[in-house]
Amino acid sequence: MAPPHSTNGGSEHDSSTAAAFASLDTVSHSESFNTEHELFDAGHKFKEGALISSKEKYAAMYTRSIKDPDGFWSDIASEFYWETKWPEENGKVHTENFDIRKGPVKVEWFKGGKTNICYNALDRHVQAGKGNQVAFYWEGNSPDLDGCLTYSELLQRVCQLANFLKDKGVKKGDAVAIYLPMLMELPIAMLACARIGAVHSVVFAGFSAESLAQRVLDCKPKVIITCNAVWRGPKVLVLKTIVDEALTISLAQGVSVDVCLTYANDIALAREKTAWQDGRDIWYQDVIPNFASSCDIQWVDAEDPLFLLYTSGSTGKPKGVLHTTGGYMVYTATTFKYAFDYHQEDVYWCTADCGWITGHSYVTYGPLLNCAKVVLFEGVPNYPDAGRCWEIVDKYNVTIFYTAPTAIRSLMRSGDEPVKRYSRKSLRVLGSVGEPINPSAWKWYYEVVGDERCPISDTWWQTETGGFMITPLPGAWALKPGSATFPFFGIQPALVDENGKELEGVCNGYLCIKGSWPSTFRTLYEDHARYETTYFAPFKGYYFSGDGCHRDADGYYWLTGRVDDVINVSGHRIGTAEVESALVSHSQCAEAAVVAIEHEVKGQGIYAFVTLKEGVSYSEELRTSLRNAVRHQIGAFASPDRIHWAPALPKTRSGKIMRRILRKIAAKQLDELGDISTLADPGVVQELIDLTDV
Ligand code: WT7
Repeated sequence: MAPPHSTNGGSEHDSSTAAAFASLDTVSHSESFNTEHELFDAGHKFKEGALISSKEKYAAMYTRSIKDPDGFWSDIASEFYWETKWPEENGKVHTENFDIRKGPVKVEWFKGGKTNICYNALDRHVQAGKGNQVAFYWEGNSPDLDGCLTYSELLQRVCQLANFLKDKGVKKGDAVAIYLPMLMELPIAMLACARIGAVHSVVFAGFSAESLAQRVLDCKPKVIITCNAVWRGPKVLVLKTIVDEALTISLAQGVSVDVCLTYANDIALAREKTAWQDGRDIWYQDVIPNFASSCDIQWVDAEDPLFLLYTSGSTGKPKGVLHTTGGYMVYTATTFKYAFDYHQEDVYWCTADCGWITGHSYVTYGPLLNCAKVVLFEGVPNYPDAGRCWEIVDKYNVTIFYTAPTAIRSLMRSGDEPVKRYSRKSLRVLGSVGEPINPSAWKWYYEVVGDERCPISDTWWQTETGGFMITPLPGAWALKPGSATFPFFGIQPALVDENGKELEGVCNGYLCIKGSWPSTFRTLYEDHARYETTYFAPFKGYYFSGDGCHRDADGYYWLTGRVDDVINVSGHRIGTAEVESALVSHSQCAEAAVVAIEHEVKGQGIYAFVTLKEGVSYSEELRTSLRNAVRHQIGAFASPDRIHWAPALPKTRSGKIMRRILRKIAAKQLDELGDISTLADPGVVQELIDLTDV
C-alpha cells in the first residue's frame, strides 16, 4: 500500500465544511456559456419514434416520480424477475435518511425482495426465447480480430466461471478482484460473481501494482482474475507482472490471495514467457471449460452488495464505493433505456472500460438488462488510425454510440476526413460522459460525426450515483451544446450557496441532490463515517456531488467542473492528494502541491509544484524520475503534465497551502493572483513566477 504520506498543509480528511470548497467563480471554462441560447431540436422523424417524445410526457412522468417515488419505481421494478417480491407496507418500497442531523445516513430500496442481477441480465432473456440474439460483439485492438457471443453462449460462459469460483470456496458476500482489460472475460467475470452473490471489485487495468495492492488490502478478495498481457494500441502491457507485484505487496501486509486465475492472451504473450507461481496461479483456459455450463442462482436481497468500485476523493486513500443489487438493477436499466431512447433493434457501443463505473452500468448491466446488442472494444479510439471508431460503427451498424469528450476532442484534432471516410448512416443517438463537454467539441460531434441527425445525450453522473442523474432524453426536448439539460426521473437537483441555502431560478451553485434514488451508493466500504463526512456533512440535508453547476433561464443545467481537490483528466478522477503522496514518496522530493490546468485534449491536466530536498538540483532526469514515481504509485494516466520547481510553496501562517495562488501561477494568470498578504512569506510567489519556464 502507498505510504500514508500526508502532504504538509494538505487536508487530512475529506472536507466536511462548505467553506473548504473552491468558490464557484474560480471554476471557469474558457468557453463559458455562450451557447445558452442555441437550441438543437431532434427532427420530427426522430421524435415520432422516441420513447419520450415531448417535454410534456417527461413532465408527467417526472412529477409522478417525485410525488410518488415508491409507486413509480415499484411499477418499473415489477418488470424484472424477483424470486420473492419485496414486502410492501403501505406501498413503500424505500426508506432513507439523507440528513445527518437526523441520524446515520441510510438508504434502502426494495429491501426484503430477493432477486439476482445476472438472472435478470441473461437467463430472463434466454427463457424468453432470445438466446440466439447477440449479446456481445467483441472487437480486438487489432482490426482483424473479433468475436461474438449470443445471450445463451454468454450465460454458459458465466456459469462455468461461477462454478469455478464456487469450487474455490467463494461464497455469497465474498469479494473477488478483477484486473482485466476489455476481453469478454471481463463482463463474464462480473456476471459470474453476481450470479453467486460474490462482490466484484474491478480494478482498471491501467492502475499500477501499488494501487492494485491498496485495493486488494482493502477488500481482501478470495480470488483475483486477470490475464497475462494485452495489446493496447501499438504496445503490449504485461499485466501479470503487475498482479504478481501487487500480490507480493499485499502478502507482506498480511493479505494473501490464494487463487490467481489468469487468462492466457497468447497473441500478446506466450504462456511459457509468463511469470508463474505454482499453486496460486491457474490458466483460465485450462480449467474453465471443464466446469458445467449451468449454475444455480444465488438469490440475494435487493440490499445485498453487488460490487465495490474504488474512486478518488480529496485525500490520498481511494474510497470503496459500495453498490447494492435491486435498486442498482432497476435504475441502470431504466436510465439506459430512456437516455439513449433504446429500441430492441439498436446496436449499442460504449467506449468506456469496465474498470470504471461507466463500464459497470453502461457496458455491462444497463444494456444487458435491456437485452441489447453490445459492442465491446479492446482497443483505443485512434489505433491504427483516427478512423477506427467509425470503421467499427460501420462494421456493426452501431446505432447508439457513447464516449467521452476527451476522445471526441482528440479525434477532432485529426480533422473531418477520417470520419467522412465512413458512412455512419446507422447512427441514431450519440452520448457523452465523464466531464463537461465544451460547446465546440459538442458541435463537431453533432455536425461531423452525427451529420446533424443524431441527438447527443450528455449524461451527468458519478461512480457514487450508479446511474445517470442529469441527462437529455433524446427527442423529448431541444438540446443546448454543453448542457446536460434536465434531471432524470426521481432526481431532484438542488443548487446551494456556500451556506447551504438552496438557490432559485438562474444561479450558480454547488450541485446537491435532495432525497435518494434507487442506485444511490449505500456506503464507503468499511468507512461509513467518511461516507457521511464527505457527501452529507458539507450541506446538511443533501447529497453533495463535488461539482459546481449553473442553471439558466430555461431551467437547463450546466456542469462547471469539480469544486473539490479532484482533477478530471480525460474523464478519469484523480485526487490531488494521491498525486502529491506519490511525488513525496520519491526520495528527492520534500514537498508537492498539485493543481489542475486546462488541457486541450484531456480537459484537465495535472500541474505539480515540487520542492526538492536540500542540495538536490533541478534536472530533466529528475522530472522523469518524479513522473515515474507517479506511474509507479498510481498509473501512467496520472503522470503530471508539468512539473514546476518550487523553492517553497505559498502557505498561510497556519501552514495551509494556498492552491488558489498556485492555480493562477499554473494558468499564467498573474494579474489575478489576488491578495497574497496573508501568506507567511509573500516573497515565495515571485520566486515561483521566476521559475515558470525553468
Ligand atoms: C465526475 C464523476 C460518471 C461516469 C464517468 C465519471 C464529471 C461526469 C459529466 C458530464 C460534466 C461530468 C463530474 C463528476 N462528469 N459526467 N456529462 N458533464 N461533468 O465518473 O469518475 O465518478 O467522475 O465526472 O465532475 O463529479 P467518476
